[in-house]
Amino acid sequence: MVGAPHVTVVGSSFVGVTTALSLAAHKVPCLLLDIDASKVELIKGGRAPFREPGVDAALRRALKARLVRATASPAEAFRTPTHIFICVGTPPNPDGSQDLSFVKVVCSSIGAELKRRKSKGPVTVVVKSTVVPGTTAGVVRKALESSSGLRAGKGFLLAANPEFLKEGSALEDALNPDRIVVGGLDEASCESVAALFSWATCPVLKTDLTTAEMVKYAANAFLATKISFANEFANLSGTLGVDWLTVADAIGADPRIGRRFLNAGVGFGGSCFPKDLKAIAAAARAAGRPLTLAEAALEVNARQPQEVTRMLEEELGDLSGKRIAILGLSFKPGTDDVRESRALLIAAEAAEGGAEIVGYDPLVRDAFALRLSVQDRANFRRAASVDEALKGADAVVVQHEGDSFSSLDPLKVKRLMRTAVVIDGRRALDGAKFRKAGLVYRGIGAGRHG
Ligand code: UDX
Repeated sequence: MVGAPHVTVVGSSFVGVTTALSLAAHKVPCLLLDIDASKVELIKGGRAPFREPGVDAALRRALKARLVRATASPAEAFRTPTHIFICVGTPPNPDGSQDLSFVKVVCSSIGAELKRRKSKGPVTVVVKSTVVPGTTAGVVRKALESSSGLRAGKGFLLAANPEFLKEGSALEDALNPDRIVVGGLDEASCESVAALFSWATCPVLKTDLTTAEMVKYAANAFLATKISFANEFANLSGTLGVDWLTVADAIGADPRIGRRFLNAGVGFGGSCFPKDLKAIAAAARAAGRPLTLAEAALEVNARQPQEVTRMLEEELGDLSGKRIAILGLSFKPGTDDVRESRALLIAAEAAEGGAEIVGYDPLVRDAFALRLSVQDRANFRRAASVDEALKGADAVVVQHEGDSFSSLDPLKVKRLMRTAVVIDGRRALDGAKFRKAGLVYRGIGAGRHG
């Protein structure tokens, strides 16, 4: 690599900011570009435009050390960097395929600047946005070449470097990766990006562009399929009176299987798994090689919240006029992200059955109600505390895994509720304790009485 690297990161949301901070942690100066001036101002003031543990503190440190800066000006951002990381969103089209319009606009803008700065040294354009295999070598390369008048490999280098960040631990994941995948148009492209990660102790895998893109989808599809597999077996286990948790522990002890991502529940949500599976399934269909398993994983996932409705109806009968409390509205604990949250589907089904829904989440405010249909929203109320949500409820659905609600006191729950029915959508509670206290406890994959 010629000279010390300095990086421009396009897109200042979760992936962009975390990427910049992880590079800055290794003394690589980064300039964050975002077209949203309000995000740029927030960042300049030391606050990320999203909630993520450790990010604000790391941002303030990096700003102070002048290792991270922010701008809304593409001309400034593209003038001198050695590397440009594209970290913009790739939202789904209504048919599940990927909308690449943000990526294309950014490429045109980068290309226009490359045209102007021709003699100012080589630049490597790196696609970090999740794009379906073939996008960087195809759409991205074409957009950059036509707007710059330069040829990839000659006028600029081109790479794909997918992220594997989890919400709630994004910075930690970026600083301590399991692996780094660098796909390059050619060896020089690969080496230029790999040099930024010389600090990494994990494997740095160098591939071609399309392989790197495929790694991201294969990883997410595999993990999502593992969850749907667990959910189907948990449903059957529950029906046969078998406890899925025991089965998961036993099969998970086999290192070929592994225990992680075998937790059954109401399904996977969030900004990645559902969107990425739909995008790769659509791309696979277009390529004439449908992904039967990924499509099945999505189908199982779409059905899984109905397990809650089934249990509610088994315990309460007709849901009309019943009050259902939902604890945990975001797609997983520790985040305010409600995208594809299973709580939305649980609330919608119960509301359609005529129930009144009261939801509580320590981090979520109005975003949840706004994602419900106007009709369902009329039957939804947000509670300010667990107690308020439970008060007078006929059933409570726990939608968050982990410890968020595991310390609920069964006797207090019983006292607050009108009918003491507890549906554990994530196996987060000690079922035996609730049953012993005289409550009806139902858990996914727990068996009716197990
Ligand atoms: C995921 C991937 O883990 C990450 O590598 C990728 O970059 C983005 O997508 P994230 O969406 O933040 O990250 O959350 P994750 O913790 O993986 O959970 C995803 C969903 O699966 C959540 O709804 C969670 O509740 C659910 N899940 C997870 C299960 O239902 N069972 C499990 O065993 C694990």
